[in-house]
Amino acid sequence: MPDPALLQARGLCTYYGTSQALFDVSIDVPSRGGVAILGRNGAGKTTLLKTLAGDLLPRAGSITFDGSDSTRRPTEARVRAGLGHVPQEQAVFSGMTVRENLLIGQMADRSHESKLEEMITLFPRLGERLSQKAGTLSGGERKMLAISRALLGKPYLIMLDEPTEGVWHGVIEEIAERLQKLAQNIAVLIVEQHVELALRVSRYCYVMDRGRVALQGPTEEIRNSPELVRLLAP
Ligand SMILES: Nc1ncnc2c1ncn2[C@@H]1O[C@H](COP(=O)(O)OP(=O)(O)OP(=O)(O)O)[C@@H](O)[C@H]1O
Ligand SMILES: [Mg+2]
Repeated sequence: MPDPALLQARGLCTYYGTSQALFDVSIDVPSRGGVAILGRNGAGKTTLLKTLAGDLLPRAGSITFDGSDSTRRPTEARVRAGLGHVPQEQAVFSGMTVRENLLIGQMADRSHESKLEEMITLFPRLGERLSQKAGTLSGGERKMLAISRALLGKPYLIMLDEPTEGVWHGVIEEIAERLQKLAQNIAVLIVEQHVELALRVSRYCYVMDRGRVALQGPTEEIRNSPELVRLLAP
C-alpha cells in the first residue's frame, strides 16, 4: 500500500453469542481510493463493516482510525471522527422525507460546510423528490439517499455495504460512476456482490471466506486470479 493507512484493523474476532463470525481479520484502508471486500453470502462482510463501525464489539483485535485507537469507541464517536457507514439494511428513515433525511446527515458534519445542493448534483433524481417520504422511494433511490446522507457528514472514510443491492441495472452504472469519482477524494470501503463494479471502484481487494480473509492483493492482480473464481463460486 503506498499511502499510510487511514484505517487499520488487526486480528479482529467477532462473535454472535457463542458463534464466531470473524476470525483474525486484518485490513488496511488508505486515505484515498477504493478498497473492496468480496465474498459469498455469509462470508462475514457485513459483520466486518459493523465491527469497524462500532455496531459490534470484537472479542479480540484492534481498530485504529486516523491515528487513534477506536476499538472500543461508541459508534457516534466514530462518525464524528469521520467514519461514515451506509449499512446493508435500514439505511434511511422511511417515515421522514428525503429532505429531512439529508438534514440529519448534514447535522453530523463537523465543518458545517456540507451542502444539500452538492448531493442533488451528485444524484439529481433526489432533488426531484425532496418532499417525498423516504419509505416510498425505489430501492435505487433509497441507496442514493443513504449514500448522500452519509456523505453530508463529510467523512474521511465511507463504508458501503452492498450499495447496488436490489437496484435496477440501469441505475447501477449511475452509482458506480459516482463511487469511482468519490474514491478520488476520500477513502471508500465497499462490500459488493456485483464483482465488476467492486473491481472498478477499488485499488485493493480482500476476499473473505467463512469469516476469514482468504485472498488479498491489488485489484489488478486479484481480477485475474483463479482463486477469486473459486472463492466466489456458490
Ligand atoms: N445477528 C446475527 N446472529 C447470529 N448470526 C449472525 C447474525 N448476523 C450474521 N450472522 C452470521 O454470521 C455470518 C456472517 O454473516 P454476514 O452477514 O456478515 O455475511 P455477509 O458476508 O455480509 O453475507 P451477505 O453477502 O449475504 O450479506 C453468517 O454465518 C451469518 O449467519
Ligand atoms: Mg452482508
